[in-house]
Amino acid sequence: MKVLITGATGLIGKAITEQCHKQNMTVHYLTTSKEKIKHTEDYKGFYWNPTENKIDLACLDGVDAIINLAGASIAHRWTASYKNTIINSRLDTLRLIKETLQNNEHSVKHVISASAIGIYPDSLTNYYEEDTTAVSTSFLGTVVEQWEKMTDTFKELDVLVSKVRIGLVLDENDGALPQIVKPIKFNLGAAFGSGDQWQSWIHINDLAGVFVFVLTHQIEGVSNGVAPNPITNTELTKTVACVLKKKLFLPNIPKAMMSLILGEMHVLLFESQRVSSKKIEEAGYQFEFVHIKPALQDLLT
Ligand SMILES: NC(=O)c1ccc[n+]([C@@H]2O[C@H](COP(=O)([O-])OP(=O)(O)OC[C@H]3O[C@@H](n4cnc5c(N)ncnc54)[C@H](OP(=O)(O)O)[C@@H]3O)[C@@H](O)[C@H]2O)c1
Repeated sequence: MKVLITGATGLIGKAITEQCHKQNMTVHYLTTSKEKIKHTEDYKGFYWNPTENKIDLACLDGVDAIINLAGASIAHRWTASYKNTIINSRLDTLRLIKETLQNNEHSVKHVISASAIGIYPDSLTNYYEEDTTAVSTSFLGTVVEQWEKMTDTFKELDVLVSKVRIGLVLDENDGALPQIVKPIKFNLGAAFGSGDQWQSWIHINDLAGVFVFVLTHQIEGVSNGVAPNPITNTELTKTVACVLKKKLFLPNIPKAMMSLILGEMHVLLFESQRVSSKKIEEAGYQFEFVHIKPALQDLLT
């Protein structure tokens, strides 16, 4: 099988590429950075510039499926202009892929796009399955809603459409975990706010596994990309400290303080989404990391 991945050079894309290679798939990828282009037998890079509608059409040669991950990082201060970058980088990329498929001969039968659990409303009590219709009114909720709507328009092209709502991805080198670990290593760790907010985490290997499973098992529609046992922010903080053999003695960090430091983006630390992995498990995906402690031991020790 040949897969075209956008955003393949990022945290999640690298892990998916590795798992595709383990299953003897060839990976084509689109990158906005010419210096990231490599050409080996099973890993071939192609340039695109979605804002200028530029794409190297050779990227589609022999491709069976597309995995779309491209998007500007949400871990920058959300100024009005950067908010536009967050939205446009997700919509322009999908629009360009769709137009490219519409206007050219291709062999693509399946499009899988990243999405995020930020689409679910902030709640300490709800347990979210994929058929939830409520959408968060937060900035991220509206971004993800538009992202998913644009993904759904690929159905017009008669291809199978899948969306993976990604949770808090845990990786040793990139993403949220190194930022969580840093203060704890210096004995300055503490939970945020009440600490009761749910964190629906997933180990990076499992998230890549879920994407490849959705691809190989043709799982249509939305699948949550989270591990089976979400935890609270307090439990996450305590477990990281325990795995690193560190003590926590500071009081919880107030929301108002993080709002001053991070601006609107502070919601990332305080929003609560308890999300179910039942659909993908019932489809037959077997998680390698079901509980947080072994996941953190694998990543941090
Ligand atoms: N990590 C998480 O916890 C998490 C949670 C929920 C959802 N997600 C979503 O999953 C996707 C992949 O996440 P990730 O953590 O792997 O992100 P990442 O490490 O930031 O990688 C994203 C990739 O997107 C490409 N990109 C960046 N800005 C772009 C732009 N303006 N136009 C087109 N491409 C652009 C870059 O590839 P090139 O430089 O090669 O172009 C980059 O490597 C993202 O859309 C993210 O929002 C991630």
